[in-house]
Formats: sequence, structure tokens, C-alpha cells
Amino acid sequence: MQVSTSHEKWSSRLTFIMAAVGSSVGLGNVWKFPYEAGVSGGGAFVLIYIACILVVGLPILIAELTLGKQGQMSPPNTMRTLAQREGRSSLWQSVGWLGVLAAFMILSFYSVIGGWALAYVPKFISGDLITTNPDVVTTEFNTLLASPVQMLAWHGLFMVLTIFVVARGIHAGIEKAVDILMPALFFILLALVIYAAIAGDFGRAWSFLFAADFSKITPDVVLNALGQAFFSISVGLGAMMTYGAYLPKDVKIPRAATIIVFADTMVALLAGLAIFPIVFANGLDPASGPGLVFVTLPLAFAGVPLGGFFGTMFFVLIVFAAITSSISLLEPVVSWAEEHKGVKRSLSAIVAGFLIWLLGLLSVFSFNLWGDVHLLEMFERFETATLFDLMDFTTSNIFLPLGGMAMVIFASWIMSRETTETDLGLSPALYKSWLFLARFVAPIALLMIFAYNIFG
Ligand code: TRP
Repeated sequence: MQVSTSHEKWSSRLTFIMAAVGSSVGLGNVWKFPYEAGVSGGGAFVLIYIACILVVGLPILIAELTLGKQGQMSPPNTMRTLAQREGRSSLWQSVGWLGVLAAFMILSFYSVIGGWALAYVPKFISGDLITTNPDVVTTEFNTLLASPVQMLAWHGLFMVLTIFVVARGIHAGIEKAVDILMPALFFILLALVIYAAIAGDFGRAWSFLFAADFSKITPDVVLNALGQAFFSISVGLGAMMTYGAYLPKDVKIPRAATIIVFADTMVALLAGLAIFPIVFANGLDPASGPGLVFVTLPLAFAGVPLGGFFGTMFFVLIVFAAITSSISLLEPVVSWAEEHKGVKRSLSAIVAGFLIWLLGLLSVFSFNLWGDVHLLEMFERFETATLFDLMDFTTSNIFLPLGGMAMVIFASWIMSRETTETDLGLSPALYKSWLFLARFVAPIALLMIFAYNIFG
């Protein structure tokens, strides 16, 4: 097999960090985190989530970026090269393949939700959604969900935008996009939080997010918090491995990883602080689930001054956040194809993007034509799960933790200590802490959570 390693490199440390923060900050932060926190009772979920990020997420992110930086290729080829270098079985490359599979699956449903957010921008601008009448907003959302054609079109537009950026490459595509979108995202979010603090019930939102009620913690809540942590910081799939492969040698990974994790958690919390004050001020339900930002929030915005404007901005924010993430899901696939002579980036972006769009039909139909298809209904937990729910569950709660576990084990047990020690550039005490978390704490925590969910 012909493999070439000449990928473009990031222009600077800053663009790498913006791209990686762009990857991690996405629908996971502004759509999923608030509703997961909402249905899981707020503070307790937030606390476990933060613990998962620090104890499991951060050491794995450091491991994943290091593997990429060492291998300098797409996940399957990076894992194969590194395993060869350490004299291990080439079976390790299956970690990379699992990642490619997960990238296809995640992007296929991610783009459907990204499409909803796109659809909401014109709806807000036209004023259709600016009403305090719950029936109107619910109908508007349900009409979108009930129409496979509309959903397909918006999902298609979202994929086209993603393909466009990735096809242009690292410098002209991904870096350019994050240079514009990330600062914009930051200012919009800040404006929304300030607005929520003035127009909403900030105090209630604060205590909802930060006062923990431990009676709400169940094994399910822990597994969801863990899955959400993996999903939110983009680990376990190889997206970060791919971004790590484009790193110049002199970038220190631990510091970059800490910045990524910190920024991602801040955005999730700030998104909560932008949404819940408005929700509480209108006496709405924080536990409304996936519809939280699509039904509850428009109602909430209509109930406060300048709501139309800020509501539009909120959905622009979601679209920006989603695109800087979706490009990182397509990039590992394209990067792999690029390593084979003759496959041009633009062509592979279009072909992979089209296949992912097709796979997305499963998610689109889950909300209408196949709403009653419950493949795993024999299991109580999945009794009402649609194909969309199953893809979300399998990827976030199984594939990502599994991939992350394999990566952290490879980096901490199999790669030589000299390699990681020099590459990470940490003080001896910090290096030992990473090694301890990576070798023992993260894998054991993952095993316990898995075992609990299977047998508990
Ligand atoms: N982290 C993104 C979000 O929060 C989604 C995402 C992008 C992702 N790349 C990933 C999730 C890689 C898992 C793996 O929306």
C-alpha cells in the first residue's frame, strides 16, 4: 500500500488551538450538554461531568494528541506505524478503523441536528418563531421533524458547508474557517450570557447548574456524563489524533490539551448560563430533553425584550460551533484517503461527505417515517430508542470510550517512556501524574463504568 505522510502542518500554535477548541466546542456544548444537565437534574450531573473530564478526558486527550504527533498520519496509519515502531501487532490499526467508523456515524447524525440549527436561522429572521404561544413553536419544530424532505435539504446544506471547508485543506480551509468562526462564536456567547443575566433569572440558573443533588446520581447518569465528556472534548475517535498529526514538533501537548479542555468546559457552562436564565424566567421546563434549544428556547426568547435578535444570534452561534466540529469529523477520513496516492482531497471530501449524508437518512427518518422502528426494543433500556438514538448511544457511550481506552493504554503502556517523557516535556512530578492517570485511573474508571452498565 502506498502511504505518503506529507500533510500540511498548522501555521502556528494558536491556529492549532483554535482548530482543536473548534472541534471540541460544538453541538455537544450548546445543544446536548444543557439538555443532558436539564434531564439529569442539573448540579449533580455537572459535577460528575467535570470529574470525568479531569480524571479521564484530559489524560486521554493528551495521549491521543501525542499519538497523532508521533505518527503524523490519519488514525489507521498512525496506529499501524506506531505499533510497528514498538514491535507490536498491526491489529492496533483497528483502533484507527473504529475511529473512522465512529466518524461516519457521528457526522451522519451530527449534520442532521446541525441542519435543524441552520433551518432555525431564517425562521427566526422571518419572525415566524418569535411567539410566546407554545403551540406555534411546537408545531413549527414538529413540522420540520415530520418532513423528511425539509430535513434532508438542511442536512444536505450542512454537509455541503462541511465538505467545502475540508476540501480546501488545512490552511485555506480549516484554519480560515476557525479564524473567523471561533472569535465570532466567543463574542456571541458572551453577549448572550450578559443578556441572559439582565433579562433572565440568573440566580435560579446558577443554583440549578451548581447546586448538586446527589440523590439524582444513578449509573445511567454516570455513563451519560462520561459519554458526554468524550463527545464534548472530541476524544476517542481520532479527530484529535488527526489534528495532532499536523502539529509542528515544538508544540507542547499538555498545555494545549489543558487549554482545550478548559475552553470546552467553560463554553458548556456558559451555554447553560445563557439558556437556563431565560428558561426559568418564563417558567418553562429545564428537563424538556433534545427539544430544549429548539422548542423551549424560542418560547423563552419571545418572552424577553429584543428576543428575536438574540434568538437569531443564538442559532447562528450553534451553526458556527457545529461547523468547526463537523470539519474535524470529516478530516480523519479525508486525511486517510489523502495518504493514498492519486486520491485528491477535494474528491475524497465529496465522496465521503456524500456517503455520510446518505447514512444520515437513517437519522432523518428516525424522526418521521421510521419513528416507530425500535430495533432493540427487547431491551428495556432501548424500548423506545430510534435508529438515531441507537447511533448516538453506540458512538458516544461505547465506541468513543473504547477507542479512548485503547489509545490511552497504547500511549502509557506500549509507547516507550522515553518517547512520551521527551515529547510531553512535563516536569517529573507532572509526568508521573499523567502516567498514573493514563495507566491506571482512566482505564479502571472506564472498565468500572462499562461493567456497571452491563451487569449493574
Ligand atoms: N466535540 C464536538 C461537540 O461537542 C463533536 C465532535 C467533533 C466530536 N469531533 C469529534 C465528538 C470527535 C467525538 C469525537 O459537538
